[in-house]
Amino acid sequence: MDKRIGFIGCGQMGQAMIQGMIDSGIVRADQIAATALSDETIDFVTDEYGIHISNDNKKLARESDLLFLAVKPYVYQGVIQEIRHEVQEDTVVVTVAAGITLESMENAFQRNVKVIRSMPNTPSLIGAGMSVLCPNAFVTTEELAGVMELFESFGEAEVVEEKLMDAVPAVSGSSPAFVYMLIEAMADAAVQQGFPRDKAYKMVSQTVEGAAKMVKETGRHPGELKDAVCTPGGTTIAGVTKLEEVGFRSSIIKGMTACTEKSRELSQSKE
Ligand SMILES: NC(=O)c1ccc[n+]([C@@H]2O[C@H](COP(=O)([O-])OP(=O)(O)OC[C@H]3O[C@@H](n4cnc5c(N)ncnc54)[C@H](OP(=O)(O)O)[C@@H]3O)[C@@H](O)[C@H]2O)c1
Repeated sequence: MDKRIGFIGCGQMGQAMIQGMIDSGIVRADQIAATALSDETIDFVTDEYGIHISNDNKKLARESDLLFLAVKPYVYQGVIQEIRHEVQEDTVVVTVAAGITLESMENAFQRNVKVIRSMPNTPSLIGAGMSVLCPNAFVTTEELAGVMELFESFGEAEVVEEKLMDAVPAVSGSSPAFVYMLIEAMADAAVQQGFPRDKAYKMVSQTVEGAAKMVKETGRHPGELKDAVCTPGGTTIAGVTKLEEVGFRSSIIKGMTACTEKSRELSQSKE
């Protein structure tokens, strides 16, 4: 890919995507430039990723073919006011933020700007990301395909209708945190039984990864895979029964619903 890629904001998410893109070889480090606020981030990113980074948002906006806005949602309005006259007509702006709608972007730019709303996640850092995208009407099929290719360089990517975008944090954007909580809780239980902490994390995380791969690669229903582990009268069904009793599944659904409600609240406050 021969595009110039800009990142306004280079924190957790920006760095995860940059690392993923460079590792995949789809772009060279010298095609990527970024901005951040603090000297600390600028120095760190220069050393760690070898990309050009400054605090000049206007210059970056002028010189990027694909411009990622990887700042927190509350910073969006200020950044867009700063760059809106600099972004070229054929530049595709990619939002990376919960609750920033396509309409709010078009309103903020006050013109027919090309926008793709995206929600990646931090496993992009190791090439295992899950990203969900939604383009506005000004993005061509070829432009969307190019941006998809970039996201697929550090994991899987899907395009959905905008009405589903507020639910994406719960499903893939924020949900790595829920899985880390599961891993931590399982490891705590293992430590309680006497396993050393490092072995507990290794055993639990390999099991979570293996179970996820079973779902993805066999295409079998998760309930069927669960049934296959449950020997009648055995240990697994004893654990499954207790988890049902304490509301394991309904707790997960409630957590995801709260996440989606928060995301909708953010979207509505920005319209
Ligand atoms: N973290 C996740 O797991 C995740 C998942 C999906 C989506 N997201 C989305 O990704 C976006 C970024 O989140 P994050 O976790 O990467 O946040 P973060 O770690 O706080 O990074 C934000 C970056 O923006 C920079 N910044 C702040 N104001 C700026 C400005 N006016 N001009 C240029 N740069 C500016 C900061 O600079 P300094 O470093 O100098 O402070 C920092 O590098 C958010 O909208 C979030 O919703 C995050």
